[in-house]
Amino acid sequence: MRTPHLLLTRLIPTSREMASSFTRLISGRNTAVLLASLGAGTMATGFLLSENSSLAAEAKKKLYPPSSDYPDLRKHNNCMASALTPAIYAKLRDKLTPNNWTLDQCIQTGVDNPGHPFIKTVGCVAGDEESYEVFADLFDPVIKDRHNGYDPRTMIHPTDLDSSKLTHGMFDENYVLSSRVRTGRSIRGLSLPPACSRAERREVERVVVTALAGLKGDLAGRYYSLGEMTEQEQQQLIDDHFLFDKPVSPLLTCAFMARDWPDARGIWHNNEKTFLIWVNEEDHTRVISMEKGGNMKRVFERFCRGLKQVEHLIQERGWEFMWNEHLGYILTCPSNLGTGLRAGVHVRLPKLSKDPRFSKILDNLRLQKRGTGGVDTAATGDTFDISNNDRLGKSEVELVQLVVDGVNYLIECEKRLEKGQDIKVPAPIPQFKK
Ligand SMILES: *[C@@H]1O[C@H](CO)[C@@H](O)[C@H](O)[C@H]1NC(C)=O
Repeated sequence: MRTPHLLLTRLIPTSREMASSFTRLISGRNTAVLLASLGAGTMATGFLLSENSSLAAEAKKKLYPPSSDYPDLRKHNNCMASALTPAIYAKLRDKLTPNNWTLDQCIQTGVDNPGHPFIKTVGCVAGDEESYEVFADLFDPVIKDRHNGYDPRTMIHPTDLDSSKLTHGMFDENYVLSSRVRTGRSIRGLSLPPACSRAERREVERVVVTALAGLKGDLAGRYYSLGEMTEQEQQQLIDDHFLFDKPVSPLLTCAFMARDWPDARGIWHNNEKTFLIWVNEEDHTRVISMEKGGNMKRVFERFCRGLKQVEHLIQERGWEFMWNEHLGYILTCPSNLGTGLRAGVHVRLPKLSKDPRFSKILDNLRLQKRGTGGVDTAATGDTFDISNNDRLGKSEVELVQLVVDGVNYLIECEKRLEKGQDIKVPAPIPQFKK
């Protein structure tokens, strides 16, 4: 079932269809001559003058068949390159979402970044909620590849933000140093960061910051605009490890996510600095609950409560999050669809991490390890950032429970190794309930 909004926006492209049939008309001719010959004062001319450059680019492109436009992906290792075929490209090249986003814009980052021989990147981003539907012939196999066989056409993604269901959420603090849960949320009706105009980006900021001002009690806090914060505020956010920087990774810049930096970007946090929201980085919002120590139960409780209140405050103002039952919460990168959730701890595992079975144990528990400096950083010393591997096909509660049980198992192994006892590689956990 698609939402009414999606159906509504599906009706909008009337002018778009007009535009593309017009483009077909002028394909292969001299656009400038045609423009001049249309004369002033007509609606068509006003339309053409304002949309002149994009129309001209579109018209120019259509001078060539899709096969001439097909990207060279022979050296690529990403999900997009695995999924794209000349037939899919030919079918989708000239399609537009209601926000005029194209397939070529979705895949540009994956074309420009061939990827690492051993690390398969995703290679495409969505420009809006409708990208996942208009370009489903590409996105569906990408999602299936990235999410271990999850089929977005037939499978239903469960959402569950009832934190009371979590059991054993308190870790041994001799091992776990900090606990964190994050996700992202997008505002329905506004283009995503790769595609948004300045006005849309500012609208996201306005909608979110206005809603957040309604948070009360332990969630009350304030917003720091990246462009307007004082030196002192900036230093404080750096010291707290809260600040995000202008994206420099070509994976993000080739997806057009650093445009107009730092316009309409910022960080909101509660006064206790345990609930944090990034505005207009890789997603409209990134929502983070965290604290020092091992109380994952409390972190997840605050995460669920905060998210529900933010959603309520946004809905009161007539907005809603992008969501559907097949893809869960819609985010910019297909890898984050579903829950968008990453629940992680910083955990000390000096003995287990040197054991040759460590990687296999993590794989079987569906956990991933990162360095404690964040994604792409090597693990330093004995402390690791351990989090859930999956995002889609399991609920928030299930994923956090998996991290709780998995990390408790790792700590158990560490304690056994300390005592000179042997450890076992656990049986693999399946991603989906069968
Ligand atoms: C898409 O492009 C068409 C023609 O270029 C224009 O009329 C329409 O307003 C655009 N839609 C959006 C949402 O920008």
